[in-house]
Amino acid sequence: MMISSELAQEAIKAKEHAYAPYSKFPVGAALLTNSGRLFTGSNVENSSYGLTICAEQSAISAAVSQGERDFAAIAVACNSDQYCSPCGACRQIIAEFGLAIKVIMVNKNGDFQELTISELLPGSFTLNANTPK
Ligand code: THU
Repeated sequence: MMISSELAQEAIKAKEHAYAPYSKFPVGAALLTNSGRLFTGSNVENSSYGLTICAEQSAISAAVSQGERDFAAIAVACNSDQYCSPCGACRQIIAEFGLAIKVIMVNKNGDFQELTISELLPGSFTLNANTPK
């Protein structure tokens, strides 16, 4: 099983594929399944800015569209002094697949901080819990 520092390095590598000509803020994500498979993603911007896809979303889309839904951890890397923390929308997208998923937030030096998605997004939306009986 891949350890957090290895997944962090995979996210840094995935950042190389970021398409971020507008923000100039490349982001990479590396998603590890419980079966040991690795999926990566990067942000994909658009000249219609609001259509931008985040790195975490692109990694999760890659995995799910290839039949994987059982995730252990996701690492997110950017070129910031701060640990790269998933946006609110990405937190909800990660939480969809399990509240125990580990989120490894990586800074530009490769240092990282690790929290679970339920720590990052307490009270995430779930359809059943919000559907009136
Ligand atoms: N971005 C991500 O890829 N993930 C996040 O969690 C937050 C932001 C991207 C979107 C945009 O291309 C750039 O970072 C600047 O907002």
